[in-house]
Amino acid sequence: MKVYASYNIKGGVGKTTAAVNLAFLASQQGQRTLVWDLDPQGAASYFFRVKPKWKGGAKALIRGKRSPEPLIRGTDFERLDLLRAHFGYRHMDVVLSKLKRPDRRLAKVLALLKGEYDRVFLDCPAGITLASESVFRAANVLLVPTIPTTLSLRTLLQLLKHLKGEGARRLSVMPFFSMVDRRKSLQQRICQQPPNGILKSHIPYLSAIEQMAERRAPLPSYAPSSPAAEAFKALWRELEASDTQGVSLSRREAEVAII
Ligand SMILES: Nc1ncnc2c1ncn2[C@@H]1O[C@H](COP(=O)(O)OP(=O)(O)OP(=O)(O)O)[C@@H](O)[C@H]1O
Ligand SMILES: [Mg+2]
Repeated sequence: MKVYASYNIKGGVGKTTAAVNLAFLASQQGQRTLVWDLDPQGAASYFFRVKPKWKGGAKALIRGKRSPEPLIRGTDFERLDLLRAHFGYRHMDVVLSKLKRPDRRLAKVLALLKGEYDRVFLDCPAGITLASESVFRAANVLLVPTIPTTLSLRTLLQLLKHLKGEGARRLSVMPFFSMVDRRKSLQQRICQQPPNGILKSHIPYLSAIEQMAERRAPLPSYAPSSPAAEAFKALWRELEASDTQGVSLSRREAEVAII
């Protein structure tokens, strides 16, 4: 089971959009795929037309007192399931702070699903909190959608430094450029020559992607040959092909720092 977390300290950068579309592409390739909507906003659940509310506390799930299996719903797509959001996730940090080894909690919940899924996508809320530490521990690959602007790159650098400091060596950090505005020459320039620390594929800013919220479905499911779907397919190909252990955190940090 390979766990991808769609994560950024920043909000509104395309985390949920990436998680939903990449999970769909993984399922299309025959992988048994789960999206865990960890955001109390429940945007990923909304995209899959699944109600976020379930009875009982999110607390019990995080504390390991409840199995995730009954909380999982099938989506309209074969091999693609959703572990629904819960508004109670807004208290995740409070719950975690009262537990021993809080950073291991999400990994423990996922361990209960071992053998059931080939790919898991965690759709994470923005921020860098105790819950994020638990995400860093549970994930194999940290996908970091990053808008190519100076301040976003600065935040990415902060994250890379933090992860290096935490000794998160087994976590593959995979930043990619997201919501790239073709009309902005600075963004174009940064994306045309991505440094080694950042994936080559990027996701352009396209109204077709913005409209996904109206369709409430992964974009490649209803517009498979559109430029937007092609961008996500290229990103997925690159992710699956990349040697995830290849680039060290120090090197990524150095590469991002010189942009
Ligand atoms: N490449 C894109 N082109 C155009 N619109 C986009 C693109 N990616 C995302 N959006 C839109 O931008 C908004 C934010 O995207 P999304 O919800 O994926 O970001 P997020 O990082 O998950 O946000 P949050 O931090 O609130 O969870 C949404 O309205 C989405 O439809
Ligand atoms: Mg989101």
